[in-house]
Amino acid sequence: MVDPASVPDRAPAAVLARAAVAAGYAPSLHNTQPWRWSAHPDRLELFAERGRQLPAVDPQGRLLAISCGAALHHALVALRAQGWTAEVDRTADPDRPDLLATLTAGARTPVTPTAKQLFDASSTRRTDRRPVSDQPVPAQAVAAIQEAVTGRARLQVLTREQVIDLAAAADVAVAVESADPAIRAELAYWTGRSERGGVGLPVGVLPARAPQTTVPDRDFGRAGTLVVGSGHDRAATYLLLYGDDDEPAGWLRAGEALSAAWLTAEALGVSVLPLSAAIEVAGTRQILRRLLSGLGHPYLVLRLGIADPDQPGPPQTPRISPAGLVEIATL
Ligand SMILES: Cc1cc2nc3c(=O)[nH]c(=O)nc-3n(C[C@H](O)[C@H](O)[C@H](O)COP(=O)(O)O)c2cc1C
Repeated sequence: MVDPASVPDRAPAAVLARAAVAAGYAPSLHNTQPWRWSAHPDRLELFAERGRQLPAVDPQGRLLAISCGAALHHALVALRAQGWTAEVDRTADPDRPDLLATLTAGARTPVTPTAKQLFDASSTRRTDRRPVSDQPVPAQAVAAIQEAVTGRARLQVLTREQVIDLAAAADVAVAVESADPAIRAELAYWTGRSERGGVGLPVGVLPARAPQTTVPDRDFGRAGTLVVGSGHDRAATYLLLYGDDDEPAGWLRAGEALSAAWLTAEALGVSVLPLSAAIEVAGTRQILRRLLSGLGHPYLVLRLGIADPDQPGPPQTPRISPAGLVEIATL
């Protein structure tokens, strides 16, 4: 992708369309990329793409909305890196229930080093499902990642005891989902796929064997080819992303927060693994809610760590081509 910071002044229409394309790097549940953009001369409209919602694992659309929020934040980052601010309108439109946000280019702004760093991070960031190294994440990095979500959601660092509770909840969630034929079928559909329209998880990003970690990732139902070293998650920091409500508006903001945290982490050399199985199962979501002692509703578990320097990391997960996600509206 062309570095937008190197592009001189351009009409907002081109800048907006490029931001929508750049948002294609955003993370999403099972790499479903459940969004589409309508690029108008003066605005971008972000829609949920219900055809790529996961009915068995995500019937309420919580993780779909979080994924769309991540795409929204990626677009904002791309605009900033092109020297534009933006206004975001998240007001629901009863006539267009899948419209999640409208983004309008605002004033021009100087491209800061941070804006450039976050944009660069969007193309190098990967979900790394390997165990992390024994090097702990520096406290200043954890604080910066927490700070990055301010105004969108909050991030609580879990204590050692809470990580044990999290591990138990994740174990239960993995067992519940593994016993559910509809969830298993859904997972089989989205994983282990070779090139098929740029969605889903290829074998190269799935661990060759289940990592020996305290907190398990979901059971993908098949071994991948990603080499897993002898690491553990002893030095990992686990956090809960949470907020005030368990409604679509909160989920969208949670996705923006996820993207802000993840791009900041990437810029600081910290690896992030989102874990959502314990959020997907209602009973374990309640356990995570209790870990927050009434402070809010849990949206996602994040594992922070320093990646194993001795093993190659995962390859980039393919994406849907821009033409499949961004429609250029003429009016
Ligand atoms: C809401 C959400 C939930 C996710 N849950 C998991 C998870 O439970 N386990 C996992 O290994 N990856 C999870 N992921 C990571 C996605 O699988 C990943 O973002 C996607 O495959 C694209 O790959 P990339 O992040 O390397 O670009 C999640 C991502 C999002 C946005």
